[in-house]
Amino acid sequence: MNLVAGGKRGAASGDGSLRLFFALVPDAHARRSLAQLAGDIARETGGRATRAENLHLTLVFLGRVPHARIADIEAIGAQVAADAEPFALVLDRVGLFREAGVAWLGTDAVVPALQQIAGALPDALRAAGLPLERRAFHPHVTLARHAVRAPTAGASPGAGWRADAIVLMASDTLPAGAIYRVLASWPLSRRERADAT
Ligand code: 2AM
Repeated sequence: MNLVAGGKRGAASGDGSLRLFFALVPDAHARRSLAQLAGDIARETGGRATRAENLHLTLVFLGRVPHARIADIEAIGAQVAADAEPFALVLDRVGLFREAGVAWLGTDAVVPALQQIAGALPDALRAAGLPLERRAFHPHVTLARHAVRAPTAGASPGAGWRADAIVLMASDTLPAGAIYRVLASWPLSRRERADAT
């Protein structure tokens, strides 16, 4: 489902490009738990907590994309979502990307449904001629930026959610920090396989 009414896509840069990424976004309950954890982890790591409304898990980062390519990207989001099942996203470990100063909640256990989406999106985007960074996929929610110490409790009670949609987000960088906007969202609509009886 495309959530952008009448083709209005909010603030694009002067050349009409947008800074885009695909993400999973938490439901309201998980967002509250994550926001609380972000506050705790920011204090512990000396960082600045991610604002609750910005919490998400990046599936693939596209960077700046010309406006003319957005329809292709939306078609890819729709197709990948149609081929994927909803799944329980479990995030059970906090850690630090030291160079980036990013404290995160993530997991080492990438379930097949997540692996499929995180593989299919970049494959389809590259096949459509969109250049992407070659980066290993480390699923995580950024809880704090400018973190200078690793969180001490590696294992975390966690705050996962039921992932049931792929979201295309645009990022606007303002003096007060990044603002993320949902451009479009598609339900993971492949039926979960019923147990054979
Ligand atoms: P992060 O969660 O580790 O900060 C928008 O910038 C989102 O895209 C963020 O979630 C960010 O990751 C992610 N991202 C991935 N690669 C990026 C890059 N090269 N530059 C900026 N953001 C990137």
